[in-house]
Amino acid sequence: MNMFYLRSRIFFGEDALAALKDMEARNVTIITDEFLVKNGVADRVASMITGAREVRIFSEIRPDPPIDMIAKALAFLLESDTDTVVAVGGGSSIDAAKATVLMYEQKVGRDVKLVAIPTTSGTGSEVTRVAVVTDPEAGKKYPLFSEALLPNAAILSGDLTVSVPPAVTAHTGFDVITHALEAYVSVNANDFTDAFAEKALELAFTYLPVAYRDGENRKAREKMQTASCLAGMAFNDAGLGVNHGIAHALGAVFHLPHGMANAMLLYHVMRYNAELDTAAFAGEPNRVCNRLARIARFIHRPAFTKQQGARNLLDEIKRLTVEMKIPQTLGEVGVSREEYEKMREHIVESALRDACTATNPRKPDANAIRTILRGIERF
Ligand SMILES: [Fe+2]
Repeated sequence: MNMFYLRSRIFFGEDALAALKDMEARNVTIITDEFLVKNGVADRVASMITGAREVRIFSEIRPDPPIDMIAKALAFLLESDTDTVVAVGGGSSIDAAKATVLMYEQKVGRDVKLVAIPTTSGTGSEVTRVAVVTDPEAGKKYPLFSEALLPNAAILSGDLTVSVPPAVTAHTGFDVITHALEAYVSVNANDFTDAFAEKALELAFTYLPVAYRDGENRKAREKMQTASCLAGMAFNDAGLGVNHGIAHALGAVFHLPHGMANAMLLYHVMRYNAELDTAAFAGEPNRVCNRLARIARFIHRPAFTKQQGARNLLDEIKRLTVEMKIPQTLGEVGVSREEYEKMREHIVESALRDACTATNPRKPDANAIRTILRGIERF
């Protein structure tokens, strides 16, 4: 038996933020970061919450939310008897808010409403039961999984992403593509998640380059918000794969932006998954190869053979990363050979243990991870 369900209400389109006006809430806490307070976004969101008695702002979220910061946010919620949390920001703010609300609910013994407002188009965290928290001392990232982490509502506003700089647009956009592709080839993919993943990929391959070149293009920004949310719905159910397993390990050790780490790996991981690293031209294409060839058709890169179709898709991925100035090697992001060699086996082990790796279509061993990593090992 299989099951697929959705929980979050999704508000989208030009005046999506107006959904906050109709929200039933008494004591609201906005969880966000300092940057979004300084640029006025947090106040703009607060001013829309007209029905609440009190709106307070917790603005101490930092990238890769560490455990001690979540404890601080929890103390803030307890102080103010919060009944509704509005998370405003990128994946870090939304993940931190989700983890905080989960602990707060356990502490106060009642349900708390969580509304997620993404200000980057990447994680899809507004519709997933996952939150990634970091233990900086151990150099590890822990993905938490719980139904209770699913936000009650998501508000997708293209307006909030127009000022995102090109590099961040590229990184977060590639996170979307990686979510959708990993979900699409996952061992747990099904007809429902396929529908979300296919649409997410069609939108992302069309509108990510537009949003990168012209950040003010509202249509492209709105479509990328949609793509990010659709990809989130796909991987929420289908899971991810070893691309995320390795990216989490690399991110925790070298502090690389999550989407950038995914983008650097995607070509190499999918080549491994589709067995294009072996003599696949001679044999039958595997399931991943067939699936990648299908996506190649969606983005108008068809071919006579499945292997060539899959290669065409991977070439397009490579081309896009180059166009968007995404580093291709660890050397380009400032990691030295010595540093890397010291940490390589730790990265391999962390990637194998990462929860995301479990749903990868080809079961990797330590050697497979080392082979994938070789694709980005130039210093
Ligand atoms: Fe991701």
